[in-house]
Amino acid sequence: MSGIRPTGFLHLGNYFGAVRNYVKLQSQFTCYFMVADLHSLTTHPDTRELKGHVHRVLAENIACGLDPEKVALFCQSHVPETTELYLYLNMLAYKGELEKTTTFKDKVRQQPENINAGLLTYPVLQAADILLHRASLVPVGKDQEQHLEMARTFANRFNHRYGEVFPEPQAFNFGEELVKVPSLDGTGKMSKSENQLATIYLADDDDLIRKKVMKAKTDAGPTAPNTPRPDYIVNIFQLMQLVGTAENLKFFEDAYDECRIRYGDMKKQLAEDMVHFITPIRQRAESIRTDHAYLKKVMDIGAEKARASARETMRLAREVMGLDYY
Ligand code: TRP
Repeated sequence: MSGIRPTGFLHLGNYFGAVRNYVKLQSQFTCYFMVADLHSLTTHPDTRELKGHVHRVLAENIACGLDPEKVALFCQSHVPETTELYLYLNMLAYKGELEKTTTFKDKVRQQPENINAGLLTYPVLQAADILLHRASLVPVGKDQEQHLEMARTFANRFNHRYGEVFPEPQAFNFGEELVKVPSLDGTGKMSKSENQLATIYLADDDDLIRKKVMKAKTDAGPTAPNTPRPDYIVNIFQLMQLVGTAENLKFFEDAYDECRIRYGDMKKQLAEDMVHFITPIRQRAESIRTDHAYLKKVMDIGAEKARASARETMRLAREVMGLDYY
């Protein structure tokens, strides 16, 4: 089980860091992938753009290979059982521990004018998402580790107080280091909030991709054979490794080690590799995004699968809680 924030516009970092893993997981496990639209209300109370964002994030994930027939791909708000479990778990979550959450403290700083209770209990809602399907594996990045730890705490508290219903959810990746996709300006990784020109989006058109890649930071090149590569050059090689061919990569690695590399040529190659990689995804995503009848079908089928699982969990939860009065 994992949740995807409907902020729209996936970038290459999201693709290699998350979506590619979902696609791999879908043929090995029973998967629940959820668009976290209710979570977005904690920071974005204005919902005018929500529908467009939800459509885009669904379309982009499907275009990347997520198969709505294999997985349950659904919207959080289409599964009302979520809010019921959220309420029960809220009684087991303490103000003190919620206030200590890193993401809460960050938000308090970022939006001091709207420190709402939903923001405080964000980790409780996330725990409800996960526990609702009694999920044991949660593919998420490092930034979600604390939330997952809290989900385990709430699961254990519930189990001890009322009876064993929930397994302990664990963060999951494929044993490898999570792939970090470096940004094009040589600082950190691709991200939504940082330099837009240094991040490649799945919706970027060919010219914009070329423009961004050609602006990537380089230097005059090595002057002695086998010089260690500076970070920003390592990044360009790493990007080529992700989207290009082994043959081209080897060609430029040899050229670097022999001090005859021409970064202009390398970036031209990387730009074409990137275009080749992104274009089919962008085109698929665009036709899915504008096919509202298809998206409705996807959401309906997804909600049905998620609710079937949720109903069974809530039946068990109410039973051990003693909320069955008949
Ligand atoms: N909080 C997660 C994020 O910011 C999104 C999310 C919501 C989530 N519900 C979840 C992730 C359940 C994993 C499981 O990315």
